[in-house]
Amino acid sequence: MSSQKQSVIILGTGSYVPDNIVTNDDMAKMVETSDEWIRTRTGIRERRFAADDEATSDMACKAGQRAIEASGVDRSDIDLIIVATMTPDMPFPSTACLVQSKLQLPNVCAFDVQAACSGFVYALGIASSMLQSGNFNKALIIGAEKTSPILDFKDRTTCVLFGDGAGAAVLSREEIEGAGILGTIGGADGSDPSVLQQPGGGSAIPASVESIQARQHFLKMNGKEIFKQAVRVMGQASADILEKLGYETSAIDLVVPHQANMRIIESLAKRMEIPMEKFHNNLDRYGNTSAASVGIALDEAYRAGRIQSGDVILLVAFGAGLTWASSLIKWQ
Ligand SMILES: CC(C)(COP(=O)(O)OP(=O)(O)OC[C@H]1O[C@@H](n2cnc3c(N)ncnc32)[C@H](O)[C@@H]1OP(=O)(O)O)[C@@H](O)C(=O)NCCC(=O)NCCS
Repeated sequence: MSSQKQSVIILGTGSYVPDNIVTNDDMAKMVETSDEWIRTRTGIRERRFAADDEATSDMACKAGQRAIEASGVDRSDIDLIIVATMTPDMPFPSTACLVQSKLQLPNVCAFDVQAACSGFVYALGIASSMLQSGNFNKALIIGAEKTSPILDFKDRTTCVLFGDGAGAAVLSREEIEGAGILGTIGGADGSDPSVLQQPGGGSAIPASVESIQARQHFLKMNGKEIFKQAVRVMGQASADILEKLGYETSAIDLVVPHQANMRIIESLAKRMEIPMEKFHNNLDRYGNTSAASVGIALDEAYRAGRIQSGDVILLVAFGAGLTWASSLIKWQ
């Protein structure tokens, strides 16, 4: 997707996190853990948990609204909504349809993407291709996640890691050459879903008294295995997109990685030989917000003035599946 006469650019970004701050000390009141353990093993200091009456679509709408405002686009011109989430309001209809109604976007095709923590980058790639095809003009993509209800507060190895929030971007096809979303790649390996999964609640293990008693509706993870895979696939996805588009690592101005664990990000930085100062991180404040994490970090980086015209930005993510994805953007 490089150097066409028309480019898909990000016109505006937005994000939202719930008000409720849950510190590591708060977590230590729920499970046997400590601020020191969580900070040194993960880099997380606090996370946000949504209110009981705040669903994924509500957070998605707040982030989406901010992205629309930042983009200056008339909402009737948006013709595509993609919501990336692994915690939809309900199995169906899609969260994207709920967002369509709540944000009153009259002329859209709307659907969800389920690629877990890689979801925002997957959505960016899909939306970019759909706009590039000429069949769509302006897209609202949102990564939104309410992980708190699927966290097992009896499992200290997982519940301390995740948080809730949403990140969004408005994409548009414009008459600009050689800028915008230069390319996106994704990959998947479903050979061992047990490394990170929510086993219950789907067609394999429908909700039952037994499934609930067996705690199968909570997130389960083999942290050590995920850690190893994360460093490997994020490194590979980053190298692959650079090679595909003919860019050197030295051309990158900013990396916006999935926010799962600071040690994973540091390993990626080392592997790619990119200084940590070029990474935008907010893991300390929000934990892992899954599909929302890259969107929130991108919005924060932009609003903090870390992204200027002409900058080359690498987005890279991995998640349950396993899935992974990377995207290279030249800011217009
Ligand atoms: C989960 C993770 C932080 C664990 O870190 P780790 O250094 O591998 O820790 P270990 O699993 O080896 O556990 C070490 C010890 O700490 C304990 N421990 C685990 N969680 C703990 C917690 N929250 N508080 C205190 N102790 C904890 C373990 O029980 C273990 O104790 P033991 O040695 O007595 O058995 C790390 O593996 C990780 O981040 N993995 C990737 C997870 C991820 O990114 N998931 C999202 C993918 S999108």
